[in-house]
Amino acid sequence: MSSKPRKQYFIATPIYYVNDKPHIGHCYTTMLADAAARYHRFAGRDVFFLTGTDEHSERVARAGHKRGLSPMEWATQNATAFQDAFRELRFTNDDFIRTTEPRHIDRVVACVQQLLDQGDIYEGDYEGWWDATQEEYVTENTAREHEYKSPVTGKPLVKHTEKNDFFRLSDYSDRLLKHINDNPGFIKPEARRNEVLGRIKQGLQDVPVSRADTPGDPAAGWGIPMPNGSGRRIYVWIDALLNYYTANEDRKERTGVDHWPPSVNLVGKDILWFHAVIWPCLLMALDKPLPDCVYAHSYWIREGRKMSKSLGNFLDLPTLRGYIKRYGLDAMRWYLLTQGPLGATDADFAHSKFIEVYNAHLANGIGNAFSRVSNMIGKYFEGNIPAPCDGALNSEDFDWPEISSQHVKMACDAARAFDFPNVFHIGSTLSRTVDGFIHKTEPFKLAKDPSRLNEVGDILYHCAEALRIA
Ligand code: MSP
Repeated sequence: MSSKPRKQYFIATPIYYVNDKPHIGHCYTTMLADAAARYHRFAGRDVFFLTGTDEHSERVARAGHKRGLSPMEWATQNATAFQDAFRELRFTNDDFIRTTEPRHIDRVVACVQQLLDQGDIYEGDYEGWWDATQEEYVTENTAREHEYKSPVTGKPLVKHTEKNDFFRLSDYSDRLLKHINDNPGFIKPEARRNEVLGRIKQGLQDVPVSRADTPGDPAAGWGIPMPNGSGRRIYVWIDALLNYYTANEDRKERTGVDHWPPSVNLVGKDILWFHAVIWPCLLMALDKPLPDCVYAHSYWIREGRKMSKSLGNFLDLPTLRGYIKRYGLDAMRWYLLTQGPLGATDADFAHSKFIEVYNAHLANGIGNAFSRVSNMIGKYFEGNIPAPCDGALNSEDFDWPEISSQHVKMACDAARAFDFPNVFHIGSTLSRTVDGFIHKTEPFKLAKDPSRLNEVGDILYHCAEALRIA
């Protein structure tokens, strides 16, 4: 993400809650990260692409309980569904971390212990508005603004008072503000950065980092115990955020290669606060370098409507699979990556739009260029790509090595800037240049004269080479 390329590239997606099955939101975030990982590997960097599942949520335990399963059984069932889905979508992640794995738990405990030892975590009383559906406390201001309902799900907030362990977030607000101001690329896109800055300037309060078990609750006993003997459990968000760190530590021990810090923490806009505020402050407290960039994309909506459980309109895996079966995985990638909510506005997944993009960009665009060129190669050269023939062609307007390398350079710049719609667009442009070249040089006419076959060969060689590059 940073403008100067470096040898290593570490990209991480959020880790996904295992209380439910994967849907387009999870697949989109991971597909974007996959595209970035593929690009950086292609560019010769040593890539670490991390994804995984967030399992110590109270919701996981409750959802399992409803089905007569232990939290671990339910978590494993869903973590497997995520792993299967990601394999099916051919994601090239280098690791898949589950927060219930000992390699994670041990390191989380060590981090929390360090924060306790340093006095960055202290015990106090907490009173606040608890959003049970999101498992997070909401500030008084936000609660009032949303009439004491969850800003995300609209369910009523509950007033909670409890003894708790707090992280001294307030101690880090000046350093965080300075970091964000000094590093314009730290939070992207720009609009999101401004939102976060605005909120930090209102002041940061210390945040609770543990929760007490409620006797009789299926979630009692689920989660990593606080190492201070309080009997409380580490708040799921603290546990989850540390996955990026614990997975890298684990990799470092296994391979000897340290990828820290992340080049990009890719997230959805709903969880930007955790990643752009709590996460960097935790890292400062642990004395670790911060990620180069926290990139928050927006949301997919469907046929103009927000996707929600109550509307039952989630674009789930079976639906995605249907599209992939009919149109191919590459077509799905093309649609999601060119039309997706990469910037600060939501994007609509509409069937008619999928078809329109498929026809315009793929069938009539790149597909058509490929089939014209391969048909001619079949017809005039028995399916073998002809050799280039220097001097056969007077094509001053088409300096192919120059054109292709310009496009490659532009595409690489766009990929480094995380602008994947543009990467794809540049591929399309190159294939349209091939169309223009064919239109201008008319190889199908030249082919009628056997003495000009070397010119035809030269044209088709350049077309094929440009399309390969595209
Ligand atoms: N477990 C937390 C993340 C912890 S990271 C340390 C979590 N999980 S989640 O499964 O609920 O969501 C994961 C991601 O999916 C979020 O980044 C969220 O924005 C994304 N999406 C969920 N629905 C989405 C859409 N409709 N569209 C695009 N992405 C959305 O939050």
